[in-house]
Amino acid sequence: MAADVRPTKDLGEFKAAIGAIFHYFGGGLDDERSNRFSKLLPFERMHAAFDGERIVGGAGVFPFQMTIPGGAVACAGVTVVGVLPTNRRRGILTAMMRAQLEDVRDRGEPIAALWASEEVIYRRFGYGLASLAGEIAIPSGYNKLRQAADERASSRLIPLEDAKAVVQPVYDRVCATTPGMFHRSDLWWEFRSLADPPDRRQGGGEKNVLVLELDGEPVGYAIYRVFSKFEGGSAAGHIAVIEALADGPTATRELWRVLLDMDWLAEIRADLMPIDHPLLHQLTYPRRMQMRVGDGLWVRLVDIGAALSARGYGAEGTVVFEVEDAFLPDNAGRWKLSEGAAKRTDEPADLALDVGELASPYLGGFSFTELVHAGMIRELTEGGAARADAIFATSSPKPWCPEIF
Ligand SMILES: CC(C)(COP(=O)(O)OP(=O)(O)OC[C@H]1O[C@@H](n2cnc3c(N)ncnc32)[C@H](O)[C@@H]1OP(=O)(O)O)[C@@H](O)C(=O)NCCC(=O)NCCS
Repeated sequence: MAADVRPTKDLGEFKAAIGAIFHYFGGGLDDERSNRFSKLLPFERMHAAFDGERIVGGAGVFPFQMTIPGGAVACAGVTVVGVLPTNRRRGILTAMMRAQLEDVRDRGEPIAALWASEEVIYRRFGYGLASLAGEIAIPSGYNKLRQAADERASSRLIPLEDAKAVVQPVYDRVCATTPGMFHRSDLWWEFRSLADPPDRRQGGGEKNVLVLELDGEPVGYAIYRVFSKFEGGSAAGHIAVIEALADGPTATRELWRVLLDMDWLAEIRADLMPIDHPLLHQLTYPRRMQMRVGDGLWVRLVDIGAALSARGYGAEGTVVFEVEDAFLPDNAGRWKLSEGAAKRTDEPADLALDVGELASPYLGGFSFTELVHAGMIRELTEGGAARADAIFATSSPKPWCPEIF
């Protein structure tokens, strides 16, 4: 029988509920860390699953605004989902997902988004693949850029504790135009982005913050760690770029020039890159970027009408979707998108699809046509997918989220 699920009420319950996933991280959850976590994830957004009196699972939500093409929308950032090994495969995750999504819907958040520990888990709950992320490793001998350095560029290292005032405005500007990025609160900067607890360094040095300026104005930054190593007397270390954001192509190029030029490195690595990163075109040896692409954000349209109506569109036109939603049946049905608003309709549908498939073009990461070609969307009227693609077209960059939350 599935467990009882309800939101946590106090720090004790909260700690036990996030304790389920921390079990798999190897523990390390004390009261202080739980308390810090609860500043970003309120008790009432953390669901706990009970086996009798015992808490055996948890699933949380960071409430934030996520950028979508043409605007931003309230989004449930799903996180710390776990069920203790003693209670797995008894439907507890399913019960938590149901309680969580119903809560998200009742709060009026049109979408939910998450990073999946395993990509097999979340489709059954109506999530669809909405963005990709690229991992790169550039060997030090192949760090040349095609264009000459801009003489206006200079860089400086700043202390982590002073960084927020300089880096946050850059982040906010990039966030505003990049679907899939989410707004970071002051607390988020303090407790996550600019926090550097030694147990999160994974053998690397401390977090460095490098600011890139053009004519003395901050236009980019990089947060990175040095992993220093020598083998046979030669440098064999690498730097791991945690986050590097900049305003536009020149700032991006000059920021990466500094990162790529560092001494004592065999390689420069970054795990979460946008797949359309300009560096590919800026490098003299683009093949050496060695980008390995994997799934990024998984998005769930919790309220199809509100989610589609919040989005901006590239062209006028009408398209009717016949949407299946086995997990949230009230969300299913026929939806007509016209003049930027989605309403229920009885008109014949152009495309038949599962709610997870509708999440794939939502941020602009995938087209309806490619999902038709994959056999995941049925085209009911000729040219329906091409029409939907024209309407959903966006001049935004590819959707991308710089951080696993
Ligand atoms: C993933 C996890 C939360 C699943 O919890 P659970 O209570 O065992 O899941 P449920 O019993 O509700 O499973 C629902 C369905 O998903 C399937 N499923 C769940 N986790 C799966 C996995 N990791 N791989 C394959 N299938 C999985 C189940 O087989 C079941 O399928 P069915 O409906 O066809 O029988 C749990 O195994 C866990 O905590 N794992 C480690 C932490 C983790 O990965 N958390 C997710 C972070 S994003």
